[in-house]
Amino acid sequence: MLSQADNQLLTQTNKGAPYGDLIRRYWIPALLSSEVPEKDGAPVRVKLLGEDLVAFRASDGRVGLVEEFCLHRSTSLFFARNEECGLRCVYHGWKFDLDGRVVDTPAEPPGSTIKDKVRLIAYPTVEAGGMVFAYMGPAEKKPAFPAYLWRNLPDDQTYVTKSLLDCNFMQGIEGECDSAHLTQLHSVFDLDVVRATRDTQSVLYFNDPAPVYDREETSFGMRLIATRKTQDGGSYVRISSFEMPLAVWILALRKEAHFYVPINDRQCWRFDFGYDLEKAVPEQFRYGGRDKHIGPDFRRHARLDNDYLIDRKRQKDGNFTGVENFLNQDALASESQGPIVDRSREHLGQSDAGLVAVRRYILNAVKSFRDGAEPAHVLTDPSQNDFGHLDTDAVVVPPGKTWREMLPHMARV
Ligand code: FES
Ligand SMILES: [Fe+2]
Repeated sequence: MLSQADNQLLTQTNKGAPYGDLIRRYWIPALLSSEVPEKDGAPVRVKLLGEDLVAFRASDGRVGLVEEFCLHRSTSLFFARNEECGLRCVYHGWKFDLDGRVVDTPAEPPGSTIKDKVRLIAYPTVEAGGMVFAYMGPAEKKPAFPAYLWRNLPDDQTYVTKSLLDCNFMQGIEGECDSAHLTQLHSVFDLDVVRATRDTQSVLYFNDPAPVYDREETSFGMRLIATRKTQDGGSYVRISSFEMPLAVWILALRKEAHFYVPINDRQCWRFDFGYDLEKAVPEQFRYGGRDKHIGPDFRRHARLDNDYLIDRKRQKDGNFTGVENFLNQDALASESQGPIVDRSREHLGQSDAGLVAVRRYILNAVKSFRDGAEPAHVLTDPSQNDFGHLDTDAVVVPPGKTWREMLPHMARV
């Protein structure tokens, strides 16, 4: 249970809100690279952290991300001409470059200096893994982009989907820090179906519906260790990682990082990024089937307003929910809690130890940032690379062994 004040701290991310300002100190996914496929192509609207922005791919291939409304008289730059490394407003032709500078004001007389006096909000971007990451904080605090192991993988070793979630982003994050729900929300009654469609280990989480959570604080955030008993007296251990400020690394069909990026306080984008460090991901394992459930506007076909297309017959004899695909099942769980769940009326059990730890970690981070401390896990020196132990995995641990002996790179740092 959380106080109303802490609930607000945990869920509010507009400019000026402590968590909002903290998130702005990190690189976060803003859109997919595929939304701006062509140089000088159409700009797209991007709404992030309560801000209205537009993104565009400039003539030189870089992605610009600027505030949506023209500095002159606020016409939307979504309609702008994307030409010669900048956006030109269609009302009076003011042109803005990728840094937000006004580079042309054709309706002003020669000698006008108005363009030197104003500047459009513009955020730096970096592309990685099919996503465009943005840094929305103060320019002088811009960190290096994290040295993710997957950063330079070929396209066939990665995949990514983006989908809209109609609730506060924290509800999405909490779902990821909650291993117990795998055995219920995502269960399928026929284990042969599970074996055929998921990884070989998935059946193991049906052996023990009440995992015990261990957790440890690390330099990147919080590592969560969910341990289930196996039939031979050993254990099945699933390790996921909460990475500041809004990502959870989790083992799905492949290793995945799920980012929950606030659009505003009542909606967020869910980016599901998957990768294989060694080889191409076979077609049937790309996207985890999610791509078939998401429309071109990034909304899921199954939504709260159509009851997630629930099939009550299938709920009796097919799967636990009667709803298809993890993505929709997760959305059902998170969105039906309401746009911003009231955590003062919850009754947490032992299975919630993971999300309780992550909440506490975030609240401490937000409060110390609010009190003037620098944010944790922000790379100021590009040669710093402490990302090798930021990982996710699952292992069957025989009696007498520990998971850490089997995954030594996940150090306690
Ligand atoms: S409103 Fe954009 S140039 Fe006038
Ligand atoms: Fe889930």
